[in-house]
Parts: sequence; C-alpha cells; structure tokens
Amino acid sequence: MRKNLKLGAVVPDAVAPGAVTASPCPAPAAAAPVELYPPLPRFAQIEPVGRCNLACRMCTVNDRGDAIGEMSLERFTQLLDQMPGLQELHLQGLGEPMLHPHFFDMVALAAARGIRVSANTNLTLLTAARAARCVEGPLSALSVSLDGASAAVYESIRRKANFAKVVRNLGRLMQARREAGSTLEVRGVMVLMRHNAHELPALLRLLHAHGVPELLVQRLSSDLQQPELAARYIPIRSYVNEHELAEDELPGLESLFAESRALAAQLGMRLNLPRLRPRAQRQSTGPRCDWPWEQLYITAAGQMLPCCMAASADRATFGDVFEQPVDGLRARWHGEQAVALRAALAADTPPSLCRSCALYRGMF
Ligand SMILES: C[S@@+](CC[C@H](N)C(=O)[O-])C[C@H]1O[C@@H](n2cnc3c(N)ncnc32)[C@H](O)[C@@H]1O
Ligand code: SF4
Ligand code: SF4
Repeated sequence: MRKNLKLGAVVPDAVAPGAVTASPCPAPAAAAPVELYPPLPRFAQIEPVGRCNLACRMCTVNDRGDAIGEMSLERFTQLLDQMPGLQELHLQGLGEPMLHPHFFDMVALAAARGIRVSANTNLTLLTAARAARCVEGPLSALSVSLDGASAAVYESIRRKANFAKVVRNLGRLMQARREAGSTLEVRGVMVLMRHNAHELPALLRLLHAHGVPELLVQRLSSDLQQPELAARYIPIRSYVNEHELAEDELPGLESLFAESRALAAQLGMRLNLPRLRPRAQRQSTGPRCDWPWEQLYITAAGQMLPCCMAASADRATFGDVFEQPVDGLRARWHGEQAVALRAALAADTPPSLCRSCALYRGMF
C-alpha cells in the first residue's frame, strides 16, 4: 500500500471547515512514498445511530456537535452497494447500536453479501428477543462494554446503567448462546482508567463465570487537547485528564498486569492489555496510523470520518457521503480533506486531532 505517489504532491493549502488542521511539527528529513488515493478498504465501521441511552464519563456522545443521525436501511444499502469489496463491517460508532430499530436487519443485509459483521453494545437493552437474534442470526462477534466489576465502580463510569441488570443481561446472552449452540464470538471490553484498574482481575473472573472467553482492555483514546474543540468538551476533557493512568502509577499497573495475565492463563481466557509506556516510534517516515488507508468510518448522519478516534464530525471529517448521489463514498475517500489528512499524517505533520490521539502517541 501507499506506493504510488510522493508525499507532498497533492497537499492542498488549506483544509475545509470542519476538517482537521495541520500542526506545526517539523517534517521528517526525507519524504516516504505514500498513496494518497488508496483503494476502498475491506474494513468499514458504520454508526447505526448517533445517540445513546447512557452517559459514560469518558465518552463524547452527549457532547458531540455534529448532526445526530439514525441511518435508514435505504442509505445503509446504498453504502453497501458502493463497497463491493467489503469483507468486514463493524456496526458501531458513537452511540448504542441496539437503539436502532433495524439493527438486526442491518446485520442481515450485510451478512447476506458475505460480509463478516461485528458490533459493540452497552448491553443495557438486551431483551430475551434481542439475545435470541444475537445468537441465532448472522452476527459474527459482539463486544460488551464493562468498565468495572462492581456496581460502585461500574455505575460511577457508566452513568444511567444498572450494573445488576447488565450482568443479568450478560447471563441471558451467554445462556442463549449455549442453548442455540451458537458460534457468536463474545468478548468483554474495558476502558482502563485510574479508578477502575484495580477491578481488572475481578472483571476477568466475572466474565469467566459467565463463559466469556476474552477481555480486551484499552486506554482512553484521546486526551481531547485539540485546541479548536468547542467549550462543551471541557468537562469531559477534565475528566479524561484526571482519570488517565499516571506515570507514577506505572509500576503498580505493571504488577497488576502480571497478576491479570497469570489469572487469565489460569482461567483459560484471552486477555489483551494496552501499552503502559509509549511504543517506540518508527524510524522511517511512514505514518504512525493506518486508519485513513485501511478502514472506513461513517456516522449515522453520513459523515465520513478519518477514524473512530475522531468520533464525531465536529472534530474531523472527510465530508458527507450522501451529498453526491452516485459514488459519494469514493468521492469522499479520495476527496480533498482525506488526501490532506493522509499527507499530513504520513509527513509527521499531523492534525491536532492526531496529536491528541493515543494511537498516534503509541499508547493504544
Ligand atoms: C463509543 S462505544 C459505542 C458502543 C456502545 N455504546 C458501547 O458502549 O459499547 C464503543 C466503545 O468505546 C469505548 N469508549 C468510550 N469512550 C472512550 C474513550 N474516551 N476512550 C476509549 N474508549 C472509549 C466504550 O467503552 C465502548 O467499549
Ligand atoms: S460508551 Fe457507549 S454506552 Fe457509554 S455513553 Fe458512549 S456510546 Fe453510550
Ligand atoms: S492518528 Fe489517531 S486520530 Fe489520527 S487518523 Fe490515526 S487513529 Fe485517527
């Protein structure tokens, strides 16, 4: 990938309003060849609905400043039609996918084209009927978000959720899975922060008790330090800064990770842990992140974003994929904003969005 164009060849002078802005970081000495017009990716993430029934402390869903959509099946089908080479679809964005009245129809429409479909859920809306559709239908994988193993910690983060109910729903899902002889892959997902880290071993035990074989632990995705962010993001930025793992906690976290790895091995579980210290950055001049080359992200309102870390179109966008009726998706993927971001990212002169991103900083 990224072989056919020299970096810097197609960088517009200015990025369109609402899009990312370039940082003043010094460029590397030699520009690497970079493909600014890559083919459409084989992986896409589509947000079914841009709102949520919860208000998790670290999540920007209730602060987003862009249009909050609910994607129609017609538009969803239009997108699939424009991605004939799509192999994997993650039905999730900023919002709760199961709030969409046709979530399972979306799964079925994509799966009927031979696409592997996965999703994330907060598990608060899992009725018996939905549990049956999860395990009987063509959904391949479901990640369930659990940021604590006790009601006190979980509910302090996942505001408006009821821990006991969510654990009951997890039991319902796994029981339905067993009874159906389903191959649905279920895993837990935890956002690791200062005040929930100590519950990592207990969360492993809780998942194991319900027959969930895997836990993915991730760090906060962004420090939200983009200077151009609207004032409504200030409270969540303060929360993120306060709850991000601190340098002086790293030795304690290392032993917690060692203990958790041992426990996971003993329980026969897979455990994916994040980096505690930044990954050594590549010496070469390649981009630090593959998202804008390898993966497509579309909000429920039809905005193409550079990645899931951008989260909403007021933080960065490549534009509206439905603005142009025919081939609008490719037009945005190869549009001015997309090309500018790829060029900046590959040149190590990334937009402020990327500089505040944990992936860019080698921490995700
Ligand atoms: C935005 S949610 C959408 C799906 C669903 N509502 C849920 O909670 O699983 C997707 C995932 O992002 C995680 N998440 C939310 N805010 C985050 C942040 N600031 N940093 C890292 N992950 C975050 C959530 O915990 C969840 O696992
Ligand atoms: S993390 Fe998921 S459940 Fe929590 S507020 Fe964000 S979208 Fe909703
Ligand atoms: S570095 Fe982060 S914010 Fe920038 S494109 Fe990659 S994932 Fe998105």
